[in-house]
Amino acid sequence: MTDFIGLPKAEVHIHIEGCFEADDVIANCEAAGIPLRAPRDRLFEAHDLKGFLEMLDWLCGTFRTREQLATTAYKFAQRMGRSGVRYADVIVNPTHWPHWHKDIAGMIDAFDAGFAAAEQDGHPPVGLCVSLLRTQSAAEAIELVELLGDIRHRRVVALSVDGNEAAAGRTGPRFAEAFRRAGAAGLRRTVHAGESSGPEGVRDAIDLLGADRIDHGVRAIEDPELVDLLARKQIALGICPVSNLALGVYRSLADHPIDALRKAGVPVSINTDDPSLLDTTLEASYAACAEAFAWDDETIRQLAATSVQASYADPALKARIL
Ligand code: ADE
Ligand code: ZN
Repeated sequence: MTDFIGLPKAEVHIHIEGCFEADDVIANCEAAGIPLRAPRDRLFEAHDLKGFLEMLDWLCGTFRTREQLATTAYKFAQRMGRSGVRYADVIVNPTHWPHWHKDIAGMIDAFDAGFAAAEQDGHPPVGLCVSLLRTQSAAEAIELVELLGDIRHRRVVALSVDGNEAAAGRTGPRFAEAFRRAGAAGLRRTVHAGESSGPEGVRDAIDLLGADRIDHGVRAIEDPELVDLLARKQIALGICPVSNLALGVYRSLADHPIDALRKAGVPVSINTDDPSLLDTTLEASYAACAEAFAWDDETIRQLAATSVQASYADPALKARIL
C-alpha cells in the first residue's frame, strides 16, 4: 500500500478557518466569556455550505488576541507536517474574523509570526492567500487589494475569493477590477468556482478574474469545451473530494469527477478544504480516492507532483520537493 504521508506533496486548497481544534476554541470562549454554540461533540456541526460559512463566523469570532492567531498558525504548519505536506498555500478570509476587521494587517502579522516560528522548528513553509467573500461589494474588494498593496507582506502570495456563489449570483464582473489590480501588484489569483456555481463560474474565474488556479472547479465537468480549455491552458484545480461529499456537491466518490478531469488532461490535485471541521486528513483523502478510482502508485505520485507544481511555492523550493 502507498505511503500517503511520505509522498512529496503540497496542500493548495485549505482554509485556516477549517483547521481549528475544539480545545482551542473552547479555551478562547472561556477566556472571553463566550457561550458555546453547541456542546463539544457538536461544536463543528454544519449540514450545508450556508450553515458551514455561518459556523466559520462564530468560530473565528472567538479569536481575540495576537497570541491566539499565532498559535493557530503554528498548529496549522504542524498539522501539515504530520500529513507529510512539504509546502502549503493557506486561505484566510478576513470577513470571518470580526475582531480583526479594522486590523487586517495586524491579523496577517500575527499569523506570519506563527508560521515563521513553525518553520524555524522544522515544520513546512506556508504561503498566505488572502480571500474576499463572494457576497462582498466591488468597493470592499478593491479596499482589500489596496491594503495588501500598501503592506506588501512577504507572507501574502495570492488574492483569493471564497464563500457561497449560490448566495451571491454571478460575481465575476463585480470582482474583476480587484483581481486585475491584484495581478498588477504581483499577486497570484486563486478563485473558488464550480462548487456552488456550475461551469459558468469557472469560466468567469478564468475570463474575468484571471485565475491561475481554481479552488474546486469540479463542476467544469458539465461543459466539455471548458474541460478542454482547462487542459489546454493547464489551469490547475485544487480539488477537495471529501469536502465535496460532506457539503453535498456529490453523493459518493463514484459520482465525483476528479478522475474524469485527470484523464482529460486537467492538472488536478487532492486537498482537504477544512480538515478539522470535516474530520479528515490529507492522507485519508488520498487513500479514499486511490481506492475509489483504483489508482496505481505512479498515478498517485503524479497527482502529488501536480499539487507541488500548482502551488505558489517558489521554483527553488518546488525543485527541492520534487
Ligand atoms: N470557506 C471555507 N470552506 C469553503 C468552501 N468549501 N467553499 C466556499 N468557501 C469556503
Ligand atoms: Zn475552499
